[in-house]
Amino acid sequence: MTEKTLLRALKGETLPIPPVWLMRQAGRYLPEYRATRAQAGDFLSLCYNPELAAEVTLQPIRRYGFDAAILFADILLIGQAMGSKLWFAEGEGPRMSTITDAAGVDALRPTEAIHETLAPVYETVRILARELPKETTLIGFAGAPWTVATYMIGGKGKDEQAAAHAFKAADRVAFARLLDRIADATVEYLSAQIAAGAEVVKLFDSWAGSLKGQDFQEFCVAPAARIIADLKARHPDIPVIAFPREAGQGYVGFARATGADCVAVDNSVSADWAAAHVQVDGCVQGNLDPRHMVTGGPDLVAEAKRICKAFAGGPHIFNLGHGITPEADPDNVHRLLEAIRG
Ligand code: CP3
Repeated sequence: MTEKTLLRALKGETLPIPPVWLMRQAGRYLPEYRATRAQAGDFLSLCYNPELAAEVTLQPIRRYGFDAAILFADILLIGQAMGSKLWFAEGEGPRMSTITDAAGVDALRPTEAIHETLAPVYETVRILARELPKETTLIGFAGAPWTVATYMIGGKGKDEQAAAHAFKAADRVAFARLLDRIADATVEYLSAQIAAGAEVVKLFDSWAGSLKGQDFQEFCVAPAARIIADLKARHPDIPVIAFPREAGQGYVGFARATGADCVAVDNSVSADWAAAHVQVDGCVQGNLDPRHMVTGGPDLVAEAKRICKAFAGGPHIFNLGHGITPEADPDNVHRLLEAIRG
């Protein structure tokens, strides 16, 4: 059996046609997602319903034949499993109860307790491992400690993560303890996803760009390195994709500093720059601007081809620079795949 294309790229192979999947490929731009979401009720009920979560994960694979499926869940479930309250305000996005001091950090549940809440997610992974086409790679994921902490502290992700930065300034020791606690839970969570059948895991640090200088080293690079080292000790053959979104110059050397097998780059950097400065260390994933999935036309095709060309000299996984948006035209995904695969 020939190995799956996504796994080959992650091992460092340069392929003539890059494997492709899209962040948020299971989402509101698809009518079948909206129908299943309505059937589930609210978003969290969908995340915790293994049959329906597996169904929405499979929908974009059936429709488009992507090279990878990403488990349907959310990065904030782990915060809920650790003891924070989580809800989704319709049309507004996620909301959490807020941790405001060291006592709040110490009141979180012990790491072992997370599995009770997260068990349905592992069941979703088991269903997917059974039902995915044999050429499709199954990606598990978690949020990186900093990004998850911004929601657990601020209650939402907006406003430049001001509350999390304020907590860090007020009590750096308690702040570091919170990130350590999230990192411990993340290693457990990702290990359980791998045990259930995830073949690759991805660490989303969506707000990495707001950490600067020493903070970027301490609260983005170091936790990623620590999580990846612990995972590799338990599961040496499972590749890890790291996504320190909007890290800018921080992308340079990120794979070497953290042990990630692949660095996902957002669309604030050019593909040519990323090829020269990031792909030199191994596989890169990215980085089409998601707005092309809304606007389509000749620009979509030209940009997709330009990105493939820029990364053609090394291992590359085609993806967007951030998630596909609800306004995207589902037909543009076919146009994108045609541009990449010919
Ligand atoms: O298809 C996939 O990519 C897998 C599933 C997935 C979701 N969220 C489903 C989702 C993944 C990997 C995530 C990660 C996630 N969640 C991140 C990191 C990636 C990123 O986008 O930066 C973050 C920051 C979150 C937190 C989160 N969840 C936000 C900010 C929102 C609201 C934004 C929005 O689009 O409404 C969510 C909700 C969410 N997570 C949706 C989906 C499909 C939309 C919810 C709905 O159906 O109403």
